[in-house]
Amino acid sequence: MSFQRTHYCGELRADHVDQEAVVCGWVHRRRDHGGVIFIDLRDRTGLVQIVFNPEFVPKEQFTEAERLRNEYVIRVRGTVRRRLAGMENPNLATGAIEIYATALELLNEARTPPFAIDAHTGVDEALRLKYRYLDLRRFEIQETLALRHRVAKLIRDFLDGQGFWEIETPMLTKSTPEGARDFLVPSRVQPGEFYALPQSPQLFKQLLMMGGIDRYFQIVRCFRDEDLRADRQPEFTQLDIEMAFVDRDDIMALIEELVAFVFQETLGEKIELPLRRLSWAEAMARYGSDKPDTRFGLEIQDVSAVVENTGFRVFSQTVRSGGQVKGINVEGAGLKFARREIDELGELAVSYGSKGMLWLIVTDDGSKGGITKFFNPEELSQLVTAMKAKPGDLLIFVADKPQVCADVLGRLRLYLGEKLELIDHDAWDLLWVVDWPLFEYSEAEGRWEAAHHPFTAPLPEDVELLGKDPARVRAQAYDLVLNGTEVGGGSIRIHRREVQERMFAALGMTKEEAESRFGFFLDAFDYGTPPHGGIAWGFDRLIMLLARKDWLRDVIAFPKTASAQDLMTGAPSPAMDGQLRELHVRLTPEAEKRIEPVQVSSSER
Ligand code: AMO
Repeated sequence: MSFQRTHYCGELRADHVDQEAVVCGWVHRRRDHGGVIFIDLRDRTGLVQIVFNPEFVPKEQFTEAERLRNEYVIRVRGTVRRRLAGMENPNLATGAIEIYATALELLNEARTPPFAIDAHTGVDEALRLKYRYLDLRRFEIQETLALRHRVAKLIRDFLDGQGFWEIETPMLTKSTPEGARDFLVPSRVQPGEFYALPQSPQLFKQLLMMGGIDRYFQIVRCFRDEDLRADRQPEFTQLDIEMAFVDRDDIMALIEELVAFVFQETLGEKIELPLRRLSWAEAMARYGSDKPDTRFGLEIQDVSAVVENTGFRVFSQTVRSGGQVKGINVEGAGLKFARREIDELGELAVSYGSKGMLWLIVTDDGSKGGITKFFNPEELSQLVTAMKAKPGDLLIFVADKPQVCADVLGRLRLYLGEKLELIDHDAWDLLWVVDWPLFEYSEAEGRWEAAHHPFTAPLPEDVELLGKDPARVRAQAYDLVLNGTEVGGGSIRIHRREVQERMFAALGMTKEEAESRFGFFLDAFDYGTPPHGGIAWGFDRLIMLLARKDWLRDVIAFPKTASAQDLMTGAPSPAMDGQLRELHVRLTPEAEKRIEPVQVSSSER
C-alpha cells in the first residue's frame, strides 16, 4: 500500500471536515484511551490529532498503531472530522478537528530520543547540539529558519529591484584583514603555501567596483578565528554590499530603506526614517559604547571638571594625570539597593577592568555612605547637581583612563538596565554611529590599528594627518546598531593608491610587506578605480534580533559551540594519516600528543 500526501498536518481546519486527507510526519505524542489510540502527528507546519479506532482501521494496521512510539515516521489516510463538543483544543491551530484514520503506513521506527522534542528548558545545550537534527524538529527553531529564509528572499528581491547583482567571491583566497585570525587551508599542489578563508569579501567587492560592476551584493559566509561570544560564530553570514560613484549618504539611505522594508514585511513594524545618527564621540561619552543601547537612560556623566579641585585625591589626581571621573546616576537605587548589591556593582566594575567603583547615596539632608566623607558639603552639593541627582538616587563613579571609564561604566549601565528592568524589550531601537576615528590604539599590540579595516577612507581633510597624528584622523565609516548590537558596518573606501599606501604605512606595514600582502590590490588602483563604498550586515545577528533570540546559534541550522566545535559531526577532528603528508604539513610534538592519529585503509588513500 502507498498513498500520496494531500495535506500538511498544520493546515487542516474545520473547512476540511468530511474530506479525505493523507498526512505524513513524526509521532509527537501517543495516548491510549481504552482501545482507541490518539496520535499527535507533527510536521513542520504543526500538529494534528489522529484517531485510530479499530472500527475504521484494518485490524493489522490497528495493531501496528498500538506499536507506535514517539518520533516514529508514519503516513496516515483518514477522514477529517469535527471534534466532539468540549474536546476542541483552542491552543492548537488544528484544534477543532481530528483525522479518523482508515489506513496507516509505518515508514520508519525511531529510538527513544535523548530529549523530548517539545522540551523548551532543562535540556543540556551540548546534548541538543550533538543531536542537532532532533533539535531542528522543534517548531521554535523551524520558525526561525523560516524567518531566515524569508529575510534572505526579501533582501534579494529588494536589491534586485535596485539594480544590484549577486556575485560570488572566492572562499579559498588570500587574507582579508578584519581584525581576527585567519583560518588557513594548506595547499597540496603548492607545497608550503596556504589559502586563507575570507574574513569578509572586502577586497573582492572593491575589485568588483574596479571591474565596473557598479552595484554588488552577496549573502555570503565569512570565517573568523576569534574569541566567541553569544553573538559571534567562527563562520557566519553577511549581507555584503558595495556601490560605485556614491557617497556616505547614498549608502546609508539605501540601507535604511532596506531595513524598513525587511521590518515591514516580516514583523509588520513601521520603522521611522531617516534613522537617528549619533557621532562615535557622543556614543562613547554618553553610553560608554560604540554600539549604544539607547532604549533606556542611565547616561554617563563626566564630572572631571567638578572634582578636579576637591580634596578627594583619588578623583583629583586621576583628573590631573590625564584621566577622567565619570559616573551614572542610578535613579532611585539609593532606596532600593541593599549594601550587598552596591558591593556587587563594585565587584563587577573590577571584573570589567577598573580599579574599583566609588559611590554615594543622595538623601534629603545631603548624602551618605561610600565616598561622602571625603568631600565638604559644598563639594558634595556641586557633585550632586552635576549628576542631576535627587534624594534616593545612588551615584556610582569610576576614575580612570578615558577608555576604561567608558568601557566599565558602559557595561555597568547595561547590567543596571537589565537589573532595574529599564529596557523595553518590545522596542526596535535602530541608529547609526557615524564619524568614527580611523584608528584605535591597541594596548595589547602597542600600536595603532584600523578601527574598521585598512581600506576605509579618511575624511579628505584629514588625509594629511595620516602617519602624523593617527588619533585625530576621522573615518568615513558608519555602523548600524539595533538594540545595542552592532548589526552592520561599512565605509567609503580609499580609491587612490597613494592614500592606500599611506594607510598601510600608518598601520606599521613596511613597503615590502604591503606589496607582498596586497600588491595585486594596490596595482588595481593604477587602472582607474571609481570612488566606492559599501557595508556589511551581520545576517545571523539581524535574524537573532528579529526573532528575539539571545544566541546566534539559535538562528543557525548547524552552529558551533563557544570552543568552535561542531558537537554533531565532531569537527574539528584529527586529519587522517597520510592527508597531512600530502599537504606537506607536520604536527608539533604537543599537538601530536593531544590527538590519536586516524588510520585509514589503503583503499581510501
Ligand atoms: P565587520 O567586520 O564590521 O565589517 O562585519 C560586518 C558585520 O558582521 C557581523 N559579524 C559577525 N557576526 C557573527 N559572528 C562573527 N564572528 C561576526 N563578526 C562580524 C557584525 C558586523 O557588523 N568588510 C566589512 C564591511 C564593509 O566595510 O563593508 C566587514 O566585514 O554584525
